[in-house]
Amino acid sequence: MKNSMHLFDPNSQDTTDLRRAFGRFATGVTVVTVQTPDGPMGMTANSFSSVSLDPALVLWSPGIASKRHDAFAGAAQFAIHILGADQQAQADHFAANGDGFDQFDWVAGPNGSPTLNGCLATFHCDTFAVHPAGDHSIILGQVTHAAFHPEKNAPALLFEQSRYGRFSPDAG
Ligand SMILES: Cc1cc2nc3c(=O)[nH]c(=O)nc-3n(C[C@H](O)[C@H](O)[C@H](O)COP(=O)(O)O)c2cc1C
Repeated sequence: MKNSMHLFDPNSQDTTDLRRAFGRFATGVTVVTVQTPDGPMGMTANSFSSVSLDPALVLWSPGIASKRHDAFAGAAQFAIHILGADQQAQADHFAANGDGFDQFDWVAGPNGSPTLNGCLATFHCDTFAVHPAGDHSIILGQVTHAAFHPEKNAPALLFEQSRYGRFSPDAG
């Protein structure tokens, strides 16, 4: 165990070990969407977190190197979709592309943000704050509409060590 331990050196330019350590945190998978002058835009993101109940706040973090970053950081409204294990195609698509919504079932949501149907839960948000955070921005959203679909039985889509999986509860 001792010999296999990798220690992150903050003075090194090599972030491989840091990324590997971060990657051991298993997360759900979301698609964040905004309406832009050029049409709907989406990005797959696992940096989503719930933050506050009163007011209802959530956050996520787009990387500033992304060509989609400014559209998200500058948007007044956005939507966050929690994906089920049956929606890996959406996760793959919106990791590679910001557009191409037509191959999915979507509508304009209550705040005008593109809204993917068939997700486990969806949050429509007003942008509450955008904070610089190193090579990412932290976008806080105030939730104006939240929806979940108890009739949808698909387990949550998960992501860990660059692999997708699905949530499986312990028996009992
Ligand atoms: C499961 C998963 C989670 C991701 N989470 C984030 C994230 O939280 N923030 C981010 O900036 N990019 C994240 N990405 C990468 C983006 O989806 C996208 O690939 C990246 O922004 C590509 O940059 P581009 O906009 O320049 O094409 C994630 C990718 C995957 C597959």
